[in-house]
Amino acid sequence: MTGGAAASRVQAVETHDVLVIGSGVGGLTVALETPDLRVGLLTKTELGRGGSSPLAQGGVAAAIGPGDSPAAHAEDTLAAAAGLAVPERVRILTEEGPARIAALLALGTRFDRDDVGHLALGREAAHGVARIVHANGDATGAEIVRALRETVEAAPMVEVFERTFVCELVMEQGRVVGALARDAADAVVLHLARAVVLATGGIGHVYWHTTNPRDNTGDGLAMAARAGARLADLEFVQFHPTALDVGADPMPLLTEALRGAGATLVDESGRRFMPDFHPAGELAPRDVVARALRELQSQGRRTLLDARDAVGPRHASKFPTAVRHCLDHGFDPRREPVPVSPAAHYHMGGVAVDTHGRTSLAGLWACGEVSCVGVHGANRLASNSLLDALVFGARVSRDLMRAVRRLPPAKALVGRVDVRLGDTSTEDGACAKIRRDIRDVMWSEVGLVRTADSLRRALGCFTQISRRLGPGASETHNLLTVAGLVAKAALDRRESRGAHFRSDSVPTPGSRHETSVGNG
Ligand code: SIN
Repeated sequence: MTGGAAASRVQAVETHDVLVIGSGVGGLTVALETPDLRVGLLTKTELGRGGSSPLAQGGVAAAIGPGDSPAAHAEDTLAAAAGLAVPERVRILTEEGPARIAALLALGTRFDRDDVGHLALGREAAHGVARIVHANGDATGAEIVRALRETVEAAPMVEVFERTFVCELVMEQGRVVGALARDAADAVVLHLARAVVLATGGIGHVYWHTTNPRDNTGDGLAMAARAGARLADLEFVQFHPTALDVGADPMPLLTEALRGAGATLVDESGRRFMPDFHPAGELAPRDVVARALRELQSQGRRTLLDARDAVGPRHASKFPTAVRHCLDHGFDPRREPVPVSPAAHYHMGGVAVDTHGRTSLAGLWACGEVSCVGVHGANRLASNSLLDALVFGARVSRDLMRAVRRLPPAKALVGRVDVRLGDTSTEDGACAKIRRDIRDVMWSEVGLVRTADSLRRALGCFTQISRRLGPGASETHNLLTVAGLVAKAALDRRESRGAHFRSDSVPTPGSRHETSVGNG
């Protein structure tokens, strides 16, 4: 990495066996499951407080109930993925899922139980049986992160660096050997490690309407792209149909489990409209439901979720988060239908990894939403995202335990790696306007319905925006990088498949789409 005129010198050097970037379920799992290694855990927020993991309402899918099997779970996952998931990898996901639930229980995760003390299993759209575990009703992510975070805080081998923004991966002789970061005091710190793990989460903030928190700016994906890592399936962004439509950013999620419990989608006259679009009605695949809402809205109609029965006395304790979101914004879902709209929710694509989380770059692993193992294909099955982070996070750890000891200690790199940090101009007012523009273009041109024309318009806008932004390695640059990558991949895939809908599509045989940008 070279520095420009505004380059900053490294002010401190830290060395670790393993450097983990990100503190959601994936990053925390890796940190915990590498017990004998010295782990440096860098997180942009406070530990376990940022990203999508703590906000996840839907639970974790795992074949643990009577009459269920990993094979049945795999079948549902592959059907949802619209032909693009890799069966062997889905098999690993579903076979290793039950052990991850057991591991979370052993850490003290308090999953919901039925009257006789067994884990309570819920059913969600496109699952053939009830196999979803939840915690505190619809606060599953928060409870899992609590259990993982408390264990990490007590782990002597894990050193946590909070409010640390990672700007670039650092490479030496073709190998990733660390990262350059700005710490909480704005000092430039070089973190060197034998192995680096990206667990930075998703890209939702690149869209105007999203359920993701504002820190999901695609930093890991953008850094990996700049370093030349292979990326896959970038065009596949899942839009959740029922985000509370009250002008909030991010939009509060109203979990799909509400529809599983009988909530219906109605128009302004109270008429159910989903049966007009799909025989499964409200429990049709997410992309179908999301596009149905968009269709009504484009006709000037209103779209509301009638959850009066679902949150009523029968399910009183099941949806505290969803009810609180509505009450906070002046709606009482127990008494009235509430306005809902689709919002960007999950990125199926990401940094291409194998089943051990190894990327195409030596020294770099990835897990969780930033990665693309190939288990979600064109459309992720509900409640398979936390499962992905848990299963493949643990597999990354096992691989690191084997690989790391064969690599030279990070201390050997001190003084050898010569880096400066380029311009990381802090986000100012101009950046705020640029972010709005990027997010607006992504929503209108690279959203639920795409055409070659809309995607070319988007790419043209991003070229203009890049002239206004200048050089640097900030969140806004990352947003712009990610926006361009998603738009380009969407332009290249001329068919409609799963969450990627091209209204100008031509039928083509489907295949996974891998790409590489940057230096590699
Ligand atoms: C939801 O609770 O509706 C979201 C769950 C998921 O994204 O899997």
